[in-house]
Amino acid sequence: MRAAVLWSQGDPLSVEEVELSPPGPGEVLVEVKAAGVCHSDLHPARGDWKMRTPVVLGHEGAGIVREIGAGVTALEPGDHVVFCWTPSCGQCPSCADHRPVLCDRLDQTTYRNKLPSGESRMRARDQALAPFLSTACFAQQTVVAQEGAVRVSRDVPFDVLASLGCAVLTGMGAVTNAAKVPAGATVVVIGAGGVGLNVVQGAVMAGSARVIAVDPQPAALALATTFGATDVVPSGDAAVATIRELTRGRGADFVFDTVGAPATIADALASSKKGGTVIVTGLSRTDAQASVSMFPFVMQEKTLIGSVYGSGQPARDIPRLVAQFQSGALKLKELVARRYRLDDINDALDALAAGTGARGVILM
Ligand SMILES: NC(=O)c1ccc[n+]([C@@H]2O[C@H](COP(=O)([O-])OP(=O)(O)OC[C@H]3O[C@@H](n4cnc5c(N)ncnc54)[C@H](O)[C@@H]3O)[C@@H](O)[C@H]2O)c1
Ligand SMILES: [Zn+2]
Ligand SMILES: [Zn+2]
Repeated sequence: MRAAVLWSQGDPLSVEEVELSPPGPGEVLVEVKAAGVCHSDLHPARGDWKMRTPVVLGHEGAGIVREIGAGVTALEPGDHVVFCWTPSCGQCPSCADHRPVLCDRLDQTTYRNKLPSGESRMRARDQALAPFLSTACFAQQTVVAQEGAVRVSRDVPFDVLASLGCAVLTGMGAVTNAAKVPAGATVVVIGAGGVGLNVVQGAVMAGSARVIAVDPQPAALALATTFGATDVVPSGDAAVATIRELTRGRGADFVFDTVGAPATIADALASSKKGGTVIVTGLSRTDAQASVSMFPFVMQEKTLIGSVYGSGQPARDIPRLVAQFQSGALKLKELVARRYRLDDINDALDALAAGTGARGVILM
């Protein structure tokens, strides 16, 4: 089978023949049908996140289970699945606390680009290929842990399902699980890309009075409007002042920073009201540090929270999001702006880097 291999960070991916071993105990082999290209694939490709290579990237996607390993009970061949890049153990203190996205096993395996078994099932040029985030779905087939694939309804197209496994879950979950935005709130969303557009639609579905999107790209702001943003603000020096004007000088109830750069976190805090909350989902370079202006942070009782992968329970939330799409409440088709063949994966990464907007999806 063919996969896109990153041999050296900073170089283009190489689409080539890769050997795939059968699934081990508790693992399943999935024929990948579609994979979204997320900024968390671009960070390692470009070298923002240092990691050992060779690695097969891709963590947002959907496909069909073709083989199951010994002891697999959750899935059967033929099941349609969305990948989940937090394959949790179900037993550690975080899992017991119903916070599977904080599972201790992820630190030992997934975030070191191994399967939960510690293995890699892909090889090329006589070397083991690390499966990025235990998923490695920039490939025609992949082997994942059974916890790394969530069964979904069979009547939803795969290109639509692909981005559900990261951008949609992360953005929607930040609104519903992390911030718990109540009806009538004023919400700012910094960055209107894959994750940000889903924060916009989550905030709209929560009944927000005002949803203000901030982005340097006019195309991203135009899309944000179609997702229900009531106001759009070009990012830049005047953005915070404009947000303050739009919120009668008070600032917003909730500010989502989907970019996660030191400068955007500072702007997010400055754009939030007294007693307001800033939720950061964006991820910078691994060595980035942000500074907080202490006096207003304390005196105005602000809250700053991080949110990973929607802060909920992916095995529960992914099928719920699919049901929301089927009922017409959730926009998914509109997120798929560009479709590529696996061979053109580097074009998809370049388009993401250029801020072309929404999602590019690889069709296997
Ligand atoms: N927390 C999580 O679980 C999680 C999940 C997925 C992605 N991420 C991270 O979230 C970030 C966004 O991912 P994405 O796939 O949505 O990326 P994306 O490239 O689709 O979107 C980013 C958007 O931010 C805009 N932007 C860039 N600089 C800006 C600025 N200074 N102010 C306002 N907008 C700006 C871009 O124009 C683009 O529209 C990445 O860092 C990614 O690694 C985190
Ligand atoms: Zn992602
Ligand atoms: Zn666990």
